[in-house]
Amino acid sequence: SITDEEQVDPFSLVADELSILANRLRSMILTEIPKLGTAAEYFFKLGVEGKRFRPMVLLLMASSLTIGIPEVAADCLRKGLDEEQRLRQQRIAEITEMIHVASLLHDDVLDDADTRRGVGSLNFVMGNKLAVLAGDFLLSRASVALASLKNTEVVELLSKVLEHLVTGEIMQMTNTNEQRCSMEYYMQKTFYKTASLMANSCKAIALIAGQPAEVCMLAYDYGRNLGLAYQLVDDVLDFTGTTASLGKGSLSDIRQGIVTAPILFALEEFPQLHDVINRKFKKPGDIDLALEFLGKSDGIRKAKQLAAQHAGFATFSVESFPPSESEYVKLCRKALIDLSEKVITRTK
Ligand code: FPP
Ligand code: MG
Ligand code: MG
Repeated sequence: SITDEEQVDPFSLVADELSILANRLRSMILTEIPKLGTAAEYFFKLGVEGKRFRPMVLLLMASSLTIGIPEVAADCLRKGLDEEQRLRQQRIAEITEMIHVASLLHDDVLDDADTRRGVGSLNFVMGNKLAVLAGDFLLSRASVALASLKNTEVVELLSKVLEHLVTGEIMQMTNTNEQRCSMEYYMQKTFYKTASLMANSCKAIALIAGQPAEVCMLAYDYGRNLGLAYQLVDDVLDFTGTTASLGKGSLSDIRQGIVTAPILFALEEFPQLHDVINRKFKKPGDIDLALEFLGKSDGIRKAKQLAAQHAGFATFSVESFPPSESEYVKLCRKALIDLSEKVITRTK
C-alpha cells in the first residue's frame, strides 16, 4: 500500500505498454512509397520519439478507470492486457500520438522552424511539401485506426480535436488588437491548441472503459485541466527558462508577436503595455520594454498561480472517480495526480 507522500513513477507503471506502443506506431506508418516512409517515420524513430507524455497519461487513465478488476497484483493485471478493452484503449493512445505528431509537422511548416526535439525539423530536412504531406499521411493512418474501433462517439471526439487544433492555430495567427489583449481569448485558443487533444482522448478512454457519462466528464476535465496547466507553465518557461529570472527563456513567443498569460496579467497592472502588444513587439526596444513591465508586475506569479489552479482541478477530477478497492487502480490514480503536480513544478 502507498502513502500520500510517496511519489509514484508514472512511466514505470506503463513502461511495458509504452514500448509495445512505440513498435505499433512504427508499423502503423509503413508504406510502399520510400520517400513517404522516410518522412513519416522521422519522429517515431528511437531518440526522437519525444516523451510519450500523452500515451502515458492515457494508459494511466485506462488503468484508473478499469472496472471489475478483482484485487490482484499488477502482474495479474498485465496478464489481462490482451483483453479487448485494453487493446482498444491502446489504440486510442496510438491515434492520439499520431495526431500530435501530425500537428507538430504542420506547425513546424507554419512556424518555419528548423529544429524539433533536438534534431532538424522535417520541413527543414525534407522541405515544406513533404512535411505537409507526411502530416496528412499520419492523419490518414490515424483515421483508419480510429474507424476500425467502430465507435462513432469516439470518432466524433477525436475528429473534433482536429478542428480544434486548426481553430487554435488560426486564432493565434489572425486576431484583432482587442482579442490579443483578452485573457478569455487566450484561454480559448490554449484549450483548442493544447488541451482539447488531452481532454477528448481521456474521455475516449473512459468511454471505451464503459464508464457512465459523469465519469467520462471527469476524465475529460482531467485532460483539459492538465493541458491548460501544462501550457500555462510553458508560457512562463518561455520567459524564465530554467532560471528564476526574466529574459532567460527563449522568448520565442514574444519574438513571434504572441501574447501569453504572463503578459496579459502584466497588462492588467500596466495598461501602457497595450501599445507594445498592438505593435506585436515589433518596434526596436519593444521586447525589452515588455520585459521591464513584466518584471515590475505580478504577471509571472499570477500565470503560475493559474497553472496551479488548473492542476488542482485536474487532481480533483481524479479524486472524484468512483472508489476502487484495487491497489493497482489506486496506484495509477495517484500517478495521475502526481503528474498534475509535476506539470506545474517542471523547469523544462
Ligand atoms: C505547437 O505549437 C502546435 C500545436 C500544439 C498545434 C498545431 C496545429 C496545427 C498546425 C493545425 C493542423 C493540425 C493537424 C492535426 C495537422 P507551438 O508552435 O506554439 O509550439 P512549439 O513549436 O514550440 O512546439
Ligand atoms: Mg511551433
Ligand atoms: Mg506554432
